[in-house]
Amino acid sequence: MCLRFVRKVSLSIIVSDADTGNRSLFLHKIPGSQKTESEKTEVTEETKRGSTKSHVLSRMRNFVVVGNVATTSPDFSLEDIPGTSGRLDILCRCINSAFVLSHGIRKDVRIFLVLCGGDTPKTLCLRGQDLRHLNPDERTTAALMKKALALDATERWQRSTPGIFVRQGSLKDLSILRDCTIYYLREDGPDVREQELNPDRDATFFLGDHMGVREEDETLLEELGTKVVSVGPRSLHADHCIVLINNELDRREASL
Ligand SMILES: C[S@@+](CC[C@H](N)C(=O)[O-])C[C@H]1O[C@@H](n2cnc3c(N)ncnc32)[C@H](O)[C@@H]1O
Repeated sequence: MCLRFVRKVSLSIIVSDADTGNRSLFLHKIPGSQKTESEKTEVTEETKRGSTKSHVLSRMRNFVVVGNVATTSPDFSLEDIPGTSGRLDILCRCINSAFVLSHGIRKDVRIFLVLCGGDTPKTLCLRGQDLRHLNPDERTTAALMKKALALDATERWQRSTPGIFVRQGSLKDLSILRDCTIYYLREDGPDVREQELNPDRDATFFLGDHMGVREEDETLLEELGTKVVSVGPRSLHADHCIVLINNELDRREASL
């Protein structure tokens, strides 16, 4: 009797999301409690369909990508995104890899894009739980970014379109770096497959762009106690690393 009761207990946690100015309710299962067979089925089926139920999948996946020369202005051409935007195309592909499933959007993902190619850096945040209008093609994604960059950004998050937010600020201003366990994806790190990926906290995965990661950003990550991990022996594009991390987390969740 007692065991059955414990298995059904869950804990409500209000998470104050400083990085997007919103508060969300998550239902977190008591660690060590086991899933019933029907809950296991629900996780597997929901994960397959790309829709997540917060009472089962309580942890957020965050990705942070720095665009070292990415423009902070909307004045780039959708006809030539790589040549006119400081390689926003790379960040558009990262968005695609972070969210897009065969038939849906990952609800438990957020991505932060730090754009350093202007006088004042800006950060974009895309949040899966309410993201709309995202298509798999780069041009549509770039158009959504253009719209967000056209807003008069301040130091507070502003909503551009559903699930897309913008603010002034760089890596050091991201509070998410202080609230989560951070994993810095780097070619020379220990294999992610052999890491525990702290199951009790939200995880944030940090990546560089085609230019890698600046020394000042590496120093900040070091100060924050970041764990370095690798997704394999070859240097890959950032968007491909995101696919591999999502896949690794999917596999771990499916085997819970
Ligand atoms: C195209 S790579 C950067 C290449 C850049 N020319 C350099 O030398 O740093 C983009 C980012 O993907 C991540 N990355 C690439 N391959 C990786 C690997 N095997 N393991 C972990 N992260 C990787 C790193 O964060 C890297 O900064």
